[in-house]
Amino acid sequence: MAILVTGGAGYIGSHTCVELLNAGYEIIVVDNLSNSSEKALERVREITGKKLTFYKADLLDKEALDNIFKKEKIDSVIHFAGLKAVGESVSMPLKYYHNNITGTITLCEVMQKHGVKDIVYSSSATVYGNPETVPIREDFPLAATNPYGRTKLVIENLLKDLHVSDNCWNIVILRYFNPIGAHESGKIGEDPKNIPNNLMPYITQVAVGKLEYLGVFGNDYDTPDGTGVRDYIHVTDLALGHLKALEKLKEKPGVSIYNLGTGKGFSVLEMVKNFEKVSGRTIKYRILPRRPGDIAICFADPSKAKKELGWEATRDINKMCEDAWRWQKNNPNGYND
Ligand code: NAD
Ligand code: UFG
Repeated sequence: MAILVTGGAGYIGSHTCVELLNAGYEIIVVDNLSNSSEKALERVREITGKKLTFYKADLLDKEALDNIFKKEKIDSVIHFAGLKAVGESVSMPLKYYHNNITGTITLCEVMQKHGVKDIVYSSSATVYGNPETVPIREDFPLAATNPYGRTKLVIENLLKDLHVSDNCWNIVILRYFNPIGAHESGKIGEDPKNIPNNLMPYITQVAVGKLEYLGVFGNDYDTPDGTGVRDYIHVTDLALGHLKALEKLKEKPGVSIYNLGTGKGFSVLEMVKNFEKVSGRTIKYRILPRRPGDIAICFADPSKAKKELGWEATRDINKMCEDAWRWQKNNPNGYND
């Protein structure tokens, strides 16, 4: 029996594929490569020395999905596929609602048809909006502030409703905090198609000389140094959380929700300093105005995942910076090198 990994060629998906293969799972990847490269999957094979099956297909293509489910013996699904750029979601809401929500509906319809009702879903800390306090627990109020976040909330609700309609559906929703870093081999990592939106790939591209300086979005937040604070988590720790979620699916069917974060917050300037220390490079930066929609502080209370999944992040901020740097240094142009 195999695990179907949607979006498995992407950043988090490819790292999860490595850990799944290392743990002995058989995997089938479905990805339309809209934000990824098939080279990532070649590297996954190289790192693990194991085989995986890949279908280049779009989740919106019901017939293609149906054929995959007919052909393969699929046991459970890990659902990463989706568009994730917050700014783009504001300018192209229809594209985001269509791809993320209709894609998930199509996937669930095909799963239902084939009697596959176990799913792990990639949600995000963005569903907490601007939390009143930190650390953030899973039972905090939910409030997305942009179309991307709203697709995450709609899909969380859709999955909960599915379980209410048929309690054989077995669902684990994982709310990721800020995934960064790369596999320690330096062979796979985050490969943004254009100028990076997120902090760590921006820093690594400044370090490698592709970008001139980092714009720090605001130094007047109510935080120790005035810059935004986030809960950065090593992508390998995050990947390992999915293996624990698969084990959870073997228990009585239900809907379980977990924060995957470290529980520690770092500011933008602390990230710059840590990166400079491990890379030996200087990161030029300039203070810019706040980025609309950003919040001051966001970090998780990850204790539920520790208690119920036996999962905990173990890789520290230096390891995150070290691995991100190795990936960028070895692949200055990402998978195009
Ligand atoms: P990514 O863009 O690297 O990976 C997503 C993959 O899905 C890509 O390979 C893309 O080609 C594929 N895809 C998109 N739409 C598709 C469709 N209709 N059919 C088939 N494939 C499709 O992103 P990622 O960082 O690996 O994120 C994975 C998941 O985790 C996403 O759902 C994202 O919203 C969520 N998430 C990411 C972050 C983050 O900071 N990276 C944080 C929280 C949640
Ligand atoms: N930042 C800068 N300059 C940059 C990029 C980011 O100063 O060039 C700052 C931001 O203002 C913020 C921090 O760095 O304070 C982190 O920003 P990111 O863009 O890396 O991450 P976000 O916390 O804004 O959002 C990310 C994903 C969301 C996801 C969220 C929680 O982009 O999709 O983490 O998981 F919802």
